[in-house]
Amino acid sequence: MRKPFVAGNWKMNTTAASAECLAEALVQKIGHQEKVEVAVCPPFPYLFRVGAKLAGSRIALGAQNCHPDNRGAFTGEVSPMMLVDAGCKWVIVGHSERRHLLGEKDDFIHRKLVGALLANLHVILCVGETLDQRRSNQTEIVVETQLAGSLESISSDQLARVVIAYEPVWAIGTGQNATPDQAEKVHQFIRGWLDGQFGETCATTTRIVYGGSVNSGNAAGLLQQPNVDGALVGGASLNADEFAAIVNIAASVK
Ligand code: PGA
Repeated sequence: MRKPFVAGNWKMNTTAASAECLAEALVQKIGHQEKVEVAVCPPFPYLFRVGAKLAGSRIALGAQNCHPDNRGAFTGEVSPMMLVDAGCKWVIVGHSERRHLLGEKDDFIHRKLVGALLANLHVILCVGETLDQRRSNQTEIVVETQLAGSLESISSDQLARVVIAYEPVWAIGTGQNATPDQAEKVHQFIRGWLDGQFGETCATTTRIVYGGSVNSGNAAGLLQQPNVDGALVGGASLNADEFAAIVNIAASVK
């Protein structure tokens, strides 16, 4: 019913040459994978080059961020329209590194999400709690606040182009992934929230993927959970064998 979705977030890594190599290797290994929707999100300067390597494969191109507006005096920013122009299908918004290191708030993330959807992009919306928030039992309220703030006034039709990534901040880049049970509980909560806000059809069709130290060793356990519909992969997506293995695990367990 929900096609698994696996995306690679390359973050501020690779060079032009290594990005091309990585894309080439992925096309060779998983370029024809039909059971899983796959996207990779390279740094902005390499979008065109990586896009050229992905051409003709089933792997889609995505970006790691965008500005809400399509043009104007916003030095250093990249617009949704430019991403479409560069061949992107996807964009990540609300990543915790931008929330916590760069101070992005839900209202700005909401504006980006709206701008991206209006430009016809598909959006990976990231939410997740910090370790302190989890320890003080605030996980659900934090996730709910982020969802409500980011998805305010979004229609059901627009939601069909959104994938939600649950990424506990304490699990990102730390090697300490959430257990399958921890992930499933929050994914269930998110699906319940979607049901309340958008109705049952949206809740059952929206994909909710897990992110935070996913690798080929822990992917099966996480992806076997009924409400975990895929993965947003950081570090492990820089290794073609690892990322391909995660995609193939998604194909076999979902
Ligand atoms: P990680 O990053 O897989 O390196 O933990 C995930 C993410 O930030 O999307």
